[in-house]
Parts: sequence; C-alpha cells; structure tokens
Amino acid sequence: MSIHHPSFGKLDDHRVIMFDTTLRDGEQSPGFSMTLEEKLRMADALHELGVDVIEAGFAIASPGDFESVQAISKRFGKDGPVIASLSRAAPADILRSAEALKPAARKRIHIVLATSDLHMRVKLRMSREEVLELTSSSVALARQHAEDVEWSAEDGSRSDPDFLCRCAEAAIRAGATTINIPDTVGYSMPEDMGRIFSDLRARVPGIEGVVLSAHNHNDLGMAVANTIAAIRGGARQVETTINGIGERAGNASLEEVAMAFRTRRDALPYRTNIETRNILRTSRLLATITGFDVQPNKAIVGRNAFAHESGIHQDGVLKDASTYEIMTPESVGWTKSSLVLGKHSGRAAFRDKLRALGYTVGDNQLNDAFRRFKDLADRKKVVYDEDIVALVDDEIVRD
Ligand code: KIV
Ligand code: ZN
Repeated sequence: MSIHHPSFGKLDDHRVIMFDTTLRDGEQSPGFSMTLEEKLRMADALHELGVDVIEAGFAIASPGDFESVQAISKRFGKDGPVIASLSRAAPADILRSAEALKPAARKRIHIVLATSDLHMRVKLRMSREEVLELTSSSVALARQHAEDVEWSAEDGSRSDPDFLCRCAEAAIRAGATTINIPDTVGYSMPEDMGRIFSDLRARVPGIEGVVLSAHNHNDLGMAVANTIAAIRGGARQVETTINGIGERAGNASLEEVAMAFRTRRDALPYRTNIETRNILRTSRLLATITGFDVQPNKAIVGRNAFAHESGIHQDGVLKDASTYEIMTPESVGWTKSSLVLGKHSGRAAFRDKLRALGYTVGDNQLNDAFRRFKDLADRKKVVYDEDIVALVDDEIVRD
C-alpha cells in the first residue's frame, strides 16, 4: 500500500509522519506560553530533530499566534518542515490560517470540528447533518488555499463509529489529505484505539488515499500506548509534543513514541525522520524556555532515565550496559549512563567511582572505605563525588 500525499509525495506503508504540536497544543498548557523569539528557537530545534510537520499555532486565537505562525512560515524553505495552523470549521478561522501561512514553502491548514454527540449537543448545538455539511464546506474552503488539508474529529474517540465514518468520508470527498482522530480527553484504551483506526480503514471509501493520524491526550497515562495502538490499526501520522506537554495531562510525548519505534523495530517496523540524538537537547531547550523541568523519572529525557543506583544494577551495567538499558544513552543525546552512589550501591560501583576519581585501592582499603561509604549513604540520599573524596582522601593516596 502506498499513498500519494501533496506534501510528502509517495509514502510507503512503513513511513510514519511526525506532526509536532508543542507550539500549539503544548503551548495551551497553563504556564507554558512562549514568546515569538522562543517559538522560533523551538521551531529551529524541531526542524533539526527531523519532525515532518510543525503546528505553529492557532492563527485566529490572538495577534501573537498569527504572528508566530507567519514568522515560522517564513523561516523554512522547500526542504523544511510543513507548517500547520489550526482553525475551527469556520470561514474566518480558515482564512486567518491561510493568511498567516502565505509565506510558507510547505503549508497545511488544519481544521477541527467536534463529532461526538456530547460535543455537538452541548458545545456546538448542531445536529449530525449540520456537522456533516460543515465538514464538507470547511474542508472545501481550506482546499482553495492549501493542497495539504488536515481534518480532525474533535472527541473522535468518543464519537458514534458510524457517524465518525460518515464524517471522515465527507472530509475526504471535500479534499482532506489527512484524517486525524483525536482522543481529545484521553479516555480511550489501546484496544479502543486499534479498533477505531482499523474500522475507519475497513469502512470509509477513499481512506486508502489519505494519511490517518492519531492525537492522544494523557489523562489516564495512556497517550503513548494509544498512539502505538493507532499505528497498528493503520494510522501513519502521530501528533506528539516534546516532553509530552499539552492540554491538562498533556499529549503523547514525541521522545517516547520515537524511541519506541527505534527500540522495538521487531514489533514496530516503522520509519520516522527523527534524529534521535537531538532528543535530549530539544527537551532541555523546551524546559529552559518554559521554566518547567521534566520529572526525574520521565522516560528518555528525565535525569534518572539512564541512572542506576542499586548495587545489582550497577554491577550489571559495569559488566555490560545492555543488562539494564534497552537503548544507549548516546542514542538520545546523553553522554553516558550514570551510576549514582547511594545506600543501594554495591562495591563494584564504589570501586569504579574511586578509580574514576583517581584512587587505586587494595582490597583491605576498599573494604574499609566501603563500610564508611555505607554509613554515610544511610544518612544522605545521594553521595556526591566531593563526599567520596572527603571520605577517602586522608587514607588513600591518589594516583
Ligand atoms: O485534542 C484535540 O482534539 C485537539 C484538536 C485540535 C486536534 O487538540
Ligand atoms: Zn489536543
């Protein structure tokens, strides 16, 4: 199976488009707003990371968002990423996106319209027929301004499956080139996701000619698992953010999805253009810009993601890192794994640390120093290099 896409040309079945929404959905999280200059720095970093699409903002949301979409559109040429701007299914929104995207060498208008009964009744106050009609007219209008148009079914995962299929069909007929099914409120289980996507593939006429896309929120901590399930069900675009930032509990994190593809090629035979060695620095840049660090145990980019404290693990890592590491720290931009000394650490890691600090010890000296280290470690959470030096410097001569 292959698709001819207006922005990417021929796409084979193993290629996954990475759509980054750090600057749009990510920026919507409280406290994460960025200045224009910061967004441009992030856009450059995302480009170096190899994302295929940068959602630069929601052009009609504010003059600042318009300006950012426009400035990011001017930033890249034909070899750069596709720049997307979000719009509701309203002519004013679509025209504002089109205007902001005018300078872009590669552009996408992204339209979102809710399709769940709950959202249609309470929020849109529209009938199913009206939503179907608006799907067609909004996509047709967007196609007058861009060849590449994405249509998103907001709250798609909680929508009636038959109606969702009808909407997707209407969007494709009107010219949408990507169909995105968001799990807007992070409600789905992986098996629901898989079914939604395989159902669409099986039932919607014309679906084989467009890219199916997944956009998962993390309210139940399942955004990445749902993204992988969507891929298995037939999605070939994933919408993610750096560090998993985004509305409420955030979106599926780019680094986790990209490393799942890379680490589990056996189970996930897909290709992205992500240069994984740039992951850590992109994550750090976002943290510096927003002032929000990731938690220490965050997969891939957290301070402890490649740190080992327990003696058993440290001993294994010293013998062969693959005993306790499923990917190399270098593959995501760390310089090396770290053996953190604490009360669970063993003699092998302690001796290794002494060696690294320039001390060569015999067995008796090691036993004695190790006993004193354990006493200290019981009192302190982490034992730093300076603590070790203070512990042994009087007794052991440095090389
Ligand atoms: O979560 C959501 O439904 C969205 C859409 C705008 C794609 O962010
Ligand atoms: Zn979202």
